[in-house]
Amino acid sequence: MLNKHQFNKMKNENNKIAMITAYDYPSAKMAEEAQADMILIGDSLGMTVLGYDSTIPVTLEDMIHHGKAVKRGAPDTFKVIDMPFMSYHISMEDSLKNAMKLYQETEAQALKLEGSGEVVGTMERLVHAGIPVVGHIGLTPQSVNVLGGYKVQGKDKDTANQLLEDALQIEAAGAMALVLECVPRQLAELITSKLTIPTIGIGAGADCDGQVLVYHDILKYGVERLPKFVKPYYDSNKALGDAVKTYVQEVKDGSFPEEKHTFTMDRDSLPEK
Ligand code: KIV
Ligand code: NA
Repeated sequence: MLNKHQFNKMKNENNKIAMITAYDYPSAKMAEEAQADMILIGDSLGMTVLGYDSTIPVTLEDMIHHGKAVKRGAPDTFKVIDMPFMSYHISMEDSLKNAMKLYQETEAQALKLEGSGEVVGTMERLVHAGIPVVGHIGLTPQSVNVLGGYKVQGKDKDTANQLLEDALQIEAAGAMALVLECVPRQLAELITSKLTIPTIGIGAGADCDGQVLVYHDILKYGVERLPKFVKPYYDSNKALGDAVKTYVQEVKDGSFPEEKHTFTMDRDSLPEK
């Protein structure tokens, strides 16, 4: 398993960090077998596996449940897990307790928190307590209703400057990496060059130190529309959908099961009646 120093070294040597989300045992196993450098147990699981239309309904218990499954599928990969909506905002005491529970029960290697401002103080306390932290700025889906939709962030001088300031503060708070979501590549490049910690981009261009995408998006698995920044590497909806349809059809028309799927015995051993 890679560690914080090795991720910094990758940044310095321009070796890209490949990160992918995972939410359960099979996706985690696949990510580990593919030698992903980092796995994100993202609260995007609210959409990808729980069917909500945002990350807002996701609870700490949901994250723990999925985090444990990912740990079993990818025991040897560095795992980052999201603190869910409002689990790090109510009070410092609640935030620290929630962080401790998530960190201890899932055995992930780091926690990810969205946002800046007051959240930076919480990040500092977590790092001080010994919990590695990853930041996440730009489009922060837990604040989608404040941002007014899933849109590119930081396109003008003021917001670009704010994002750079936020990035520097997050680094100063002791974060080990920073996710940049949906920001123009020029801004992501600038932030990446100003930070000593790695940036992991999603919709932030090729100049970030690493990339992260959602497992279900790259496989087109259960998702219909994909954002511009996603490259689909497979069409699971079609491939798996066809397989399931064929199974249902074959049961209905009697062509499944065949002899080779069937156990047999001597008729003599059957009960008399
Ligand atoms: O939850 C998630 O999948 C994320 C990534 C999109 C960065 O936070
Ligand atoms: Na997330």
